[in-house]
Amino acid sequence: MRTQVGIVGAGPAGLMLGRLLEQAGIESVVLENRSRDYVEQRIRAGVLEQGTADMLVSAGVGDRMRREGIVHHGIELQYDGERHRIPLSDLAGGRAIVIYGQTEVVKDLIAARLASGPPLLFDVDAVSVAGIESQRPSIRFTHGGGAQTLDCDFVAGCDGFHGVCRPAIPAGALRTFERGYPFGWLGILAAVAPSNDELIYAHNERGFALLSLRSPELSRLYIQCRPDEDIAEWPDARIWEELHARLGIDGWSLAEGPVLEKGITGMRSFVTEPMQYGRLFLAGDAAHIVPPTGAKGLNLAIADVKLLAAGLVDYYERGDRRGLEAYSAACLRRVWRAEHFSWWMTSMLHRDDTAGDFGLVLQLSQLRYLTTSTAAATTLAENYVGLETV
Ligand code: FAD
Ligand code: PHB
Repeated sequence: MRTQVGIVGAGPAGLMLGRLLEQAGIESVVLENRSRDYVEQRIRAGVLEQGTADMLVSAGVGDRMRREGIVHHGIELQYDGERHRIPLSDLAGGRAIVIYGQTEVVKDLIAARLASGPPLLFDVDAVSVAGIESQRPSIRFTHGGGAQTLDCDFVAGCDGFHGVCRPAIPAGALRTFERGYPFGWLGILAAVAPSNDELIYAHNERGFALLSLRSPELSRLYIQCRPDEDIAEWPDARIWEELHARLGIDGWSLAEGPVLEKGITGMRSFVTEPMQYGRLFLAGDAAHIVPPTGAKGLNLAIADVKLLAAGLVDYYERGDRRGLEAYSAACLRRVWRAEHFSWWMTSMLHRDDTAGDFGLVLQLSQLRYLTTSTAAATTLAENYVGLETV
């Protein structure tokens, strides 16, 4: 088999890259080691920055998002038993966010690709990349029992944090930056109308909580827990009790409903530099991870592949390599901004026993500043909706 761009991974990064290349008439093959059902059901992010939503539309995969996505113009910060609204759009030049699940983005991208034809193979095994320093890199894999080699001009490593592409780069060629957190998030999807019109990020002495949503009938809720916590110790009743305790304020109550899904996610910050080696380009979680508090992971993945697709288009249409050569540095400027924002939101909102009373009072001081100073709130707002020029 041969193609122009071999794409490893059918998450948001790989699928969107495939879509953008298809629009530009560049061939690609997408290889995914999980089943279609698995990748379509994997519940993850839910907040699209304005720029991400605009890209879905311009890529011709935004119709359902425009119908079913919910536009939000603000979020609420809660601390000391009170809620304060941050009017995102007023502060960030009219830009907004769209609530639309990553599962739905992935379903729309898969449906579009399967309808128009370029190869997308699920359930591939034993994926490895070779020859990335040469002009003719290749991807080896098995599919349906048979071993295959896909020869490519370029390989896009869109295979997430645990994928095979980043480790294929010689260790000496990469610099990695990493930070762990003593926090995890226990997340549930519940069949109940969201109890608030906007997201609520709640600072609480029992730990952080977040009220989010997926649709008018589906709530998405999170509580801070230990990263190694056993989900078996969290029956639904205990989760609701904790959510009530952390999110409740006078005159408002949280509506409960059947829990459809629950899981625990650890948190880390991680960056690989550079995001390219020879003819292998990394995009999305394969190159960087943020803790979810800033809602940036999916948005960064989409921003990466926008730049990668533009670089590839310049290369194929005009033989111009400058976009590809600048890819890593251009991505990393946005990545580091999001790394800082996500670390900052995480540090400000989570209960951290290692930081003591000093840490707690600093958090509250920062929250008060954000909710009383337009300058401070603007900093949060423009980062949250996504900076256009980083
Ligand atoms: P991924 O979505 O990870 O896609 C990579 C794809 O590559 C996967 O389909 C994987 O199966 C495939 N793959 C892996 N290895 C191979 C291989 N060897 N061969 C072929 N295919 C391979 N962000 C938020 O903003 N909010 C959240 O609430 C949130 N929750 C999250 C929960 C979890 C458990 C995780 C892991 C991430 C979460 N994120 C969240 C982050 C966000 O979902 C990611 O940033 C986003 O999925 C990145 O997209 P991606 O395409 O780069 O990677
Ligand atoms: C979500 O809805 O899953 C969500 C929302 C905001 C975040 C993280 C996750 O910061």
